[in-house]
Amino acid sequence: MGSSFTYYAPTEVVFGQDTETKAGALVKKWGGTKVLLHYGGESARRSGLLTRIKASLEAEGIAVVELGGVVPNPRLSLVHTGIALARREGVDFLLAVGGGSVIDSAKAIGYGIYNEGEVWDFYEQKRKPQGCTPVGAVLTIAAAGSEMSSSSVITNEDGNLKRGLNTDYSRCKFAVMNPTLTYTLPPYQTMSGAVDIMMHTIERYFVAGSSMALTDEMAEALLRVVMASARTLKSKSDDYEARANLMWASSLSHNGLTGCGHASRGDWAPHQLEHEMGGMFDVAHGAGLAAIWGSWARFVYKERADRFARFGHRVLGLPVTGDDLADAERAIESLLDFFREIDMPTTFAELGIHPTAEEISEMTVKATYFGKRTLGDVMVLGSEEIKAIFTDAAQR
Ligand code: NZQ
Ligand code: ZN
Repeated sequence: MGSSFTYYAPTEVVFGQDTETKAGALVKKWGGTKVLLHYGGESARRSGLLTRIKASLEAEGIAVVELGGVVPNPRLSLVHTGIALARREGVDFLLAVGGGSVIDSAKAIGYGIYNEGEVWDFYEQKRKPQGCTPVGAVLTIAAAGSEMSSSSVITNEDGNLKRGLNTDYSRCKFAVMNPTLTYTLPPYQTMSGAVDIMMHTIERYFVAGSSMALTDEMAEALLRVVMASARTLKSKSDDYEARANLMWASSLSHNGLTGCGHASRGDWAPHQLEHEMGGMFDVAHGAGLAAIWGSWARFVYKERADRFARFGHRVLGLPVTGDDLADAERAIESLLDFFREIDMPTTFAELGIHPTAEEISEMTVKATYFGKRTLGDVMVLGSEEIKAIFTDAAQR
């Protein structure tokens, strides 16, 4: 039975040009007196963003400790470094300047400061955290939605395990979103982000059971706008409206809104499969999703051909012929055409990875948490089905 849900989205959103100048006031409002300023490689420094944020923090009398170096698919080792540094320095607030990787790393450090013991235990579901030191974000890429989600996804280099942890404790206190900060993104990252945004709604949309009409309409509108924005940005990377729409969609696509009232929380198999690809091959998350989605969709669509057909009509503008199976097949091919149009991969080879049979077996066993879980909702996937989907993506 659908139409029964909890929607919890406590993050204060401050959206628009120059909003990063408010970072200091926001940290203060949310109780921070000494922040760990956490960031990635060089993009935030190169653009002058870090300097502007430090000035904003200093203007509010907030002490700053810096830790850069977060890489995409953020690593546990830097999380450990951050926890030790933050404890030594008496940090009481984590300010993430970057995308999903930086925000997720900040959340992991927050768990590590707040709780005793090894933080990875929480990602392995061995223990439950009791809280998280507060995190705020200045977003520089529209993609993962971590700025409003309950998730943190970390890669443990020991075994190349990429694992997510979901709790409301880690939801950002605030998210500063200035769309102009995303103008400097390489096209591959912009488009990879657009795919990730779409997938967070698509995976909530494809449910085995019933769905809520209002949520379906909102999801379809979001997907159409993200596609239009990505197309605009392909030829004009500094189009403010397109950047703004993409950035707001990033948050709304993963804060729960586009899944409210459905019979289940969705079918997250493509994400769970991609996490194994990211853990083993260190690929950009959204590009990885684009590369596996077609193989997943072709494998499962007959279970909900009506829904795939509706998706084709409402989101992709395809005609309804009355033959759900044929319409569903067209919908899948049409979405894959869109991925190609925005230069995203639709196979492992296009993604640039060539897993061996042994590597596919390893990804499969890791995806099932070593035999402890199945994936999916439209179709429940065990080891055999997961391996078939990985193999299909590898052989195309
Ligand atoms: O490190 P820098 O130099 O900043 O470069 C980054 C990075 O190389 C660059 N970048 C970011 N903003 C930029 C910029 N370059 C130029 N100008 C800017 N304004 O972009 C690259 C990718 O950054 P990253 O943070 O990795 O991107 P994204 O936001 O896609 O995050 C991906 C991570 O989030 C996880 C993914 O698995 C992956 O690890 N996810 C997190 C989720 C969550 N917490 O809710 C949900 C997602 O499904 C996802 O799993
Ligand atoms: Zn994602």
